[in-house]
This record gives sequence, C-alpha cells and structure tokens, in this order.
Amino acid sequence: MDAIDVIVTKRDGRELSTAQIDWVIDAYTRGVVADEQMSALAMAILLNGMTRREIAEWTQAMIRSGTRMDWSGLPGRTTDKHSTGGVGDKITLPLAPLVAACGGYVPQLSGRGLGHTGGTLDKLESIPGWRASLSSEEMLGVLREAGAVICAAGEGLAPADKKLYALRDVTGTVEAIPLIASSIMSKKIAEGTGALVLDVKVGSGAFMKTVDRARELATTMVELGTDAGVNTVALLTAMDRPLGRAVGNALEVTESVEVLAGGGPEDVVELTVRLAREMLQAAGLDGGKDPEQALKDGSAMDAWRRMISAQGGDPDAALPRAAETMEVVAPATGVLTRLDAYGVGLAAWRLGAGRERKEDPVSFGAGIMLHARPGDAVREGQRLMTLHADETARFDRALAALDGAYAIGEAGEVDLLPLVIDRIRA
Ligand code: URA
Repeated sequence: MDAIDVIVTKRDGRELSTAQIDWVIDAYTRGVVADEQMSALAMAILLNGMTRREIAEWTQAMIRSGTRMDWSGLPGRTTDKHSTGGVGDKITLPLAPLVAACGGYVPQLSGRGLGHTGGTLDKLESIPGWRASLSSEEMLGVLREAGAVICAAGEGLAPADKKLYALRDVTGTVEAIPLIASSIMSKKIAEGTGALVLDVKVGSGAFMKTVDRARELATTMVELGTDAGVNTVALLTAMDRPLGRAVGNALEVTESVEVLAGGGPEDVVELTVRLAREMLQAAGLDGGKDPEQALKDGSAMDAWRRMISAQGGDPDAALPRAAETMEVVAPATGVLTRLDAYGVGLAAWRLGAGRERKEDPVSFGAGIMLHARPGDAVREGQRLMTLHADETARFDRALAALDGAYAIGEAGEVDLLPLVIDRIRA
C-alpha cells in the first residue's frame, strides 16, 4: 500500500477500499504517511466526498487508533449530547446533571473553545478548584457519585483525529462533511456512550450556516452512530442569535446555575429540557422522572453540586468577575429585530472570553450580558448589553465587532429561525 495510490483513488473520484482506509489512518497516526500527503487526501475528500461505507470505515479506523472507553460496570445506561458549538451555548452545564437526576449516566468528554464559540471546559474552569483532567478511574468515580462527569478527552482517545483535525485547520479542509462527521463521531463512539443526541447548530454563529448543510451533517452523523450501535438522534437548532443572555465563561456558569435553580432564560430552559428528554428517550429511560420536574424539585441542582464537588470545584465559591464593564445602549426606540450570533461571539472573544491559539489562556470574567433579545421592545438610551473585560483597551475592538450586529426596527421585521428546526433519526 502506498499513500500516492490512496490519494489518486480519491482524486479521481473513486471509492477507497477498506484496506486503503485502514492503512492510511494507521500509517498517518504512526507518522509513515506525511502531513503533505494527508493534506492532499483531505482536499480530495473535500472535493469528491465519501460514500456512507467509506465514512463509517474511516470513523472506525480513527476509533481504533486509540482506546475505547467502557462503562459496562455502571449500574445504569449511559447517554450523552454533543453540540457542534455556538454563541452562549452553555446547555451541557445544566443538561448533564439534569439527565443524571432523571436516571441517566452522562460520560461527557468536552473540549476547549477556539475562535468565536466557547468551550465547555473553559466555562467550568471558571469555578475555583474544578479540574478538567481526570483518569478513566476518576471519571468512573465521578459518574458513580454524581451520575454525570464532564472532562477533557485523554491523549489516548482517537489520536488519529487529533492529528488530522490540526492538519485540516491549516489546509482549508475543515468544512468537508465526511471529515467533520467522522471527527466528531469517532470521539463520541470511543467515549463509550450507549445513546447520543446531537445538537447541530444552524446560523451565523454556527459551523453550519444553512439548514441544508446542517441537515446533511446531522444525517451523516446519525448514520455513523447507528452503524456503530449507538442509538443516535439529532436536532437542528437555531444559532442565528445567541442562546440565552450570557456569553462568556463565568457569566454562562451563573446563567446555568439559574436554570438549575428553576429560573433562567426561556430559550435555554426549553432547549435543555428538550435535549434531556431526547437523551433519556434514546437510552430507553423516558419512563422515569421528567426533566422539568427535576429542575423544579432541586434534584438537578443536587446532581450539579455533587458533580462539581467530585471534580474538586466549590459550587458555592464566588466566580471571577472582569475588572471593567461598559454599557451599549439602544440608539433608537423600536423593536430589537436582529442580534447576530456571530457578531456577539466575535465581540465576546475580543473581550477576552475566547482564545486565538490553543495554548492561550482565557479570561474567565470576560463576556457579554444581553439585556434585550430579538423581538423585545426597546427605548432609545436603554441598555442593550453590558460588555465585561479585564482591560478597557478591549472595548473598542469589541464594539467594532458589534457594529451592524444588531438592528432596531418594527416588530414585523423580526425574522428568526425556530429554536428547534428539525429532528433527524436513522
Ligand atoms: N469538531 C470536531 O471535533 N471536529 C470537526 O471536524 C469539527 C468540529
């Protein structure tokens, strides 16, 4: 087998054989296939696509490049959620303990943020003492104690994907749906969950800008999960505006705790409850306590406190706050017709909530609190949002990102995607 053969097969629009796929993933992981060869293959895949069989085998080969976790020792069923990422998307934080409170076990491996979307681990790391890196034994311990664990994926999980994702990032090949789907699903299948709900975001603040692209990605991932024996379902959900009112690490933790206390913004609550029901149903656990009830009776909050404490965090500690704030006020009276997710995400990132390179630190207190949501009536001079940053020098660039990101007009001009756009099953 040689790399040129594999590249030429895909360059000419032909199907890769099982042997070619197995060899190229293994050889790339071992350093036998060079980065420039894998780049050419990734570009050929982006241009010519892959069949369902090829994507499934590519995914399995990436899973085999590392370890697969096993939760069969737990006394109940596992179920997890993956979001393709968005602005203000803190749903994992209330969702994992909520599902635990309803009888599921949630073994969630999460990532850090890069670019304008936040990462779940960055949000949780704003809680004093909380640790993202756990051994498999520690993960099992937290799962037994709290019913849910959220932590970083270890080095051993799908190492082929780690290498390939970094390469795609610098070769213009991130957008290939077969590569995105296999990248996400190799990690989720290797994580060992029995059931999986995918939250595929659509809109300016999401990876997928159109419903059609999001549907194609969701369908591909649902097929991959199903073929691998993981009961998988996907929701397409809105990311044309931010989710909730808080954007930024500690600000989003505070909002998540409000949801767990039975309050919080309507859209965050609605999506959290919907995803929790989907996760329970996918695991065959939908006959027990309803998620809405678990938010009301405090059991989801109890699971959150156990989960945070079991990972070294203090659920009662004060969260970091940014040193400086600045108000953005409505320039006119009318209705907020638009609040663009990408513009708000970019502004939060420039305030320090996100990172440029993966080794950069984030500011835990930085971000944006939204005081008005699309559809709300506003008066000239009323606060639209509060910017939070550690240095005032950051405000100008954040304001530039917000330029054109919101509009005030008439109620009839509000045109938003439905919160849940579609549901996709195998
Ligand atoms: N997230 C991933 O894990 N992989 C991709 O390819 C894209 C998003």
